[in-house]
Amino acid sequence: MQDLWFLTRDGENWYHLRSILNPGLLLPSQVVNYERELHPVISDLLERINWLRLHSPNRNMVNNISKELHNFILEGIFAALFCQRLGCLSKTTPQDTQQYIDSIHTMMRSFIWLSILPTWTMPLLPFWNSFVGAWDIIFAFAQKHIEKKIKEVERIVASGEPVPNGFVTRLLTNGKMSRHEIYSSITEILLGGIDTMANTLTWSLQLLSEHPSVQTAVANEVESASPGIGIPGIQNMTSMPLLRAVVKETLRLYPVVPVNSRFALEDIVVGGYLIPKGNLLTLCTFVASRDPEQFPEPKSFKPERWLRTSPRLHHPYASLPFGYGVRGCIGRRLAELELHLTLARLIKQFIVEPDNNEKPPNGKMHLILLPDRPINMRFVDRRPC
Ligand code: HEM
Repeated sequence: MQDLWFLTRDGENWYHLRSILNPGLLLPSQVVNYERELHPVISDLLERINWLRLHSPNRNMVNNISKELHNFILEGIFAALFCQRLGCLSKTTPQDTQQYIDSIHTMMRSFIWLSILPTWTMPLLPFWNSFVGAWDIIFAFAQKHIEKKIKEVERIVASGEPVPNGFVTRLLTNGKMSRHEIYSSITEILLGGIDTMANTLTWSLQLLSEHPSVQTAVANEVESASPGIGIPGIQNMTSMPLLRAVVKETLRLYPVVPVNSRFALEDIVVGGYLIPKGNLLTLCTFVASRDPEQFPEPKSFKPERWLRTSPRLHHPYASLPFGYGVRGCIGRRLAELELHLTLARLIKQFIVEPDNNEKPPNGKMHLILLPDRPINMRFVDRRPC
């Protein structure tokens, strides 16, 4: 198993890498470029959902939507970073990609236990070998695709053509990171994005399916921002405040990273308590964003509370699903872009309904917050394909 470099590092070492990676992922001007890569992936998702539902017994059911969305998100993030496709949305996922997705789940299942048990017990645990093996597969996946990219860039350079300006290509050509740092950073950026995004998208669709009047209002908003056969894009987002509010409200109710921590760098006083330097402070985002003093009727799905037209009752830091400060989520802008574009296009094409045979899912803590069971959903035509 290789060293982790980025997610788990801190201090100078982390800051050095983070400052190289930040501009490509966080500058709004860069993120706009990702839209071009994302739209074909979203079109493939719509096509796949259509195919799946039409092949179900009642011609509208998609089973285990979260599994489909995992494949979609991996395809989307990969396309945005590598400007290449993996094929996760074809009828059968390529074997190495499926193995990679399975390894992430194996790793995450074991991670919870390993994070609470003393280090010396680890090699004795029955799942230690599969945990280490899963990490090897996760690293090998990124390494293989980066090496493929290197060959492609070398070929383009040799042919004298201009090198396309994708995120991974820039890292490979700007000479600011070693090859090993690139392998590790890309591995961890992919890891940071897949489950967080797939589960947030699953929760958003689940909540919209349970709240048909909100869903209709979102569909009307999307239709008036991008009428007829138009494809809703980044240029329409300012005209879709309710859609953006749905994502905020979903992350308030189901912050996929429900806990966040910081070491106190100096003695500080929080809420009248002295926290001495060096102590770990843990913020439970899940509890904070359900505080009834900040969010009246905290368990209700009310996206309208985020609209500018509503009185803003909560503190601006009451819901921090992407963390905060220099260490805040590096993928936030890409995440919001992909969530907004995907939801807009899905809701424009389909009416999403819950599976009436199932009770609404609950949250389950599995390193991140995810639904406690697979979710099936009905996709009914909102307009002809
Ligand atoms: C709904 C989607 C997402 C949520 C809710 C989320 C949430 C978070 C949170 C809470 C943190 C910790 C921030 C802190 O300590 O203040 C984090 C870190 C991180 N996220 Fe995200 N994330 C999402 C999507 C993504 C995406 C799409 C990517 C990659 C493209 C990504 C990559 C990362 C990485 C690499 C870190 C570690 C940053 C560092 O330690 O410097 N995340 N994320």
